[in-house]
Amino acid sequence: MSETGQQLRNKDIVGIKDLSCYEIELILNTAVGFRDVLRRDIKKVPTLRGKTVVNLFFEPSTRTRTSFELAAKRLSTDVINFSVSASSVVKGESLIDTAMTIQALGADIVIIRHSSSGVPHLLARHLNASVINAGDGINEHPTQALLDAFTIMGKYSTIKGLKIAIVGDILHSRVAKSNIYCLRTLGAEVRLIGPPTLIPEGLIDPEIEIFHNMEEGLRDIDVVMMLRIQMERQDRGFFPTTDEYFRLWGLTLERLSLARPGAMVMHPGPMNRGIEIVSAVADSPQSVILEQVTNGIAVRMAVLYLLSGRRG
Ligand code: CP
Repeated sequence: MSETGQQLRNKDIVGIKDLSCYEIELILNTAVGFRDVLRRDIKKVPTLRGKTVVNLFFEPSTRTRTSFELAAKRLSTDVINFSVSASSVVKGESLIDTAMTIQALGADIVIIRHSSSGVPHLLARHLNASVINAGDGINEHPTQALLDAFTIMGKYSTIKGLKIAIVGDILHSRVAKSNIYCLRTLGAEVRLIGPPTLIPEGLIDPEIEIFHNMEEGLRDIDVVMMLRIQMERQDRGFFPTTDEYFRLWGLTLERLSLARPGAMVMHPGPMNRGIEIVSAVADSPQSVILEQVTNGIAVRMAVLYLLSGRRG
């Protein structure tokens, strides 16, 4: 529960699709307070002392896992980083049995990343503990979209009416899906740029413009959000070569100059420099890629805090 008594409706955050505009704004507003905490000399508050958070990552992660761990520690929770490779999962224990065991050990919040879409939803149904989706297959990555929205609002104050382009492998990107839901809910004009093979049909609402030409798509946009090519999820050739991909879809300084002056450049990471983005752009003053990482801690503190309140 927030200081004003506002709450999330559900005990879990498995997708942005399930959050209302009010709930998204509640999380973003709560994160502002935690960002201030993180700017102090002593970056820790006793807010969730006595709670236990478990990081259950079945896929690699640098940013999300570390950020959730730091967020939990800044709130004074006990954090367990569950090591899948050193657990009884390798002896054949099922996902549900593993999760139920973690709950029996006292977990209040389970943060899960998994290669299969829908796994967080399955756990949310089986557990009394809160479940947070840290990325499920090609479905959603809700806290990434929340930290992206928070970062955009750091520069523009409001997302309503901004022209935001998401570029690249939309088909396999859970970051893109969560961002589409989040940014549309907050009133942005979203456009998708990429090859036809990597932009799915059916997902997109009629308000979203699609561009199969990078130069046309970038014109007059306020924010460009680049995506990693998800090689590990591609079961066939969606484009001829990475050189060809870079030639058509790579973000260069020349292409960035087509956007509004000072347009914000984002990337959820990890980046493939020289494939979807050149270093001159990734490291430019217009890039907020590292700011996104920093903001992830405050946003995840807000999510942990609000879910703890939700569970009473
Ligand atoms: N953005 C993101 O999910 O990065 P990691 O895979 O490093 O967590």
